[in-house]
Amino acid sequence: MQHSNPLLLVLFLISIVSSLTTRINQPSRIRIDIGSNGAPALVFTPDSIKAQVGDTLDFHFIDQNVVSSVLLGVENSPCTPAPAGADFFNSGPILGDPDGTNVFSVNVTSDSQMILYCGVGAHCQAGMVAVVNPDKLTTLKGYAKAATGVQMNLGPPNMTGGSFTQGTSGGPVIIGFAPGAGPQKSAAGPCVGTSRRAVGGGSCVARK
Ligand SMILES: *[C@@H]1O[C@H](CO)[C@@H](O)[C@H](O)[C@H]1NC(C)=O
Ligand SMILES: *[C@@H]1O[C@H](CO)[C@@H](O)[C@H](O)[C@H]1NC(C)=O
Repeated sequence: MQHSNPLLLVLFLISIVSSLTTRINQPSRIRIDIGSNGAPALVFTPDSIKAQVGDTLDFHFIDQNVVSSVLLGVENSPCTPAPAGADFFNSGPILGDPDGTNVFSVNVTSDSQMILYCGVGAHCQAGMVAVVNPDKLTTLKGYAKAATGVQMNLGPPNMTGGSFTQGTSGGPVIIGFAPGAGPQKSAAGPCVGTSRRAVGGGSCVARK
């Protein structure tokens, strides 16, 4: 080749750009940690997430002595589940393990905003909230602030809308609430480790 052909060069560049674009649009797995593996902390990390349709949200329960959950809420009613429907998901109460290998996974099926909270104890009121694809920068702050004044944190017990992978650290990993446990009042603490302390008057039950 004596002279480089400008047309070929342009085509070559176009092919590079399009392959990069393809890679960017490929589905990804997004890790969100629930709790903390240092001092117990009622947090989702990160708490503001960008996700595309086809991505998977992997919620890792890493707080080894604390039971938490993640479920879909509604923006104007903090600590309340979204209506049951195709997009609804709820991990139900899960005991964290130190390896972070108790994982609840949710497929993203819409790119609209999703408010998430923890439905255990008073975790939601304490600020254990997150947002996926926020409409505006203030959404999460406003939700967290309104949550502090909520009487009841409503966390239905049944796992739905996602899949669960059991961790490697052994012991009971999924703890559900006995039927009739009802809503959890602000003052209640979480079910703790193997002692399975009751939450909000309900009893915790280990499921393996
Ligand atoms: C939750 O699970 C319990 C026990 O399997 C079942 O009896 C109950 O109907 C379920 N509730 C919902 C809302 O699916
Ligand atoms: C999520 O998507 C994967 C891949 O398409 C599928 O195998 C899995 O069953 C889906 N999980 C749920 C809970 O819908």
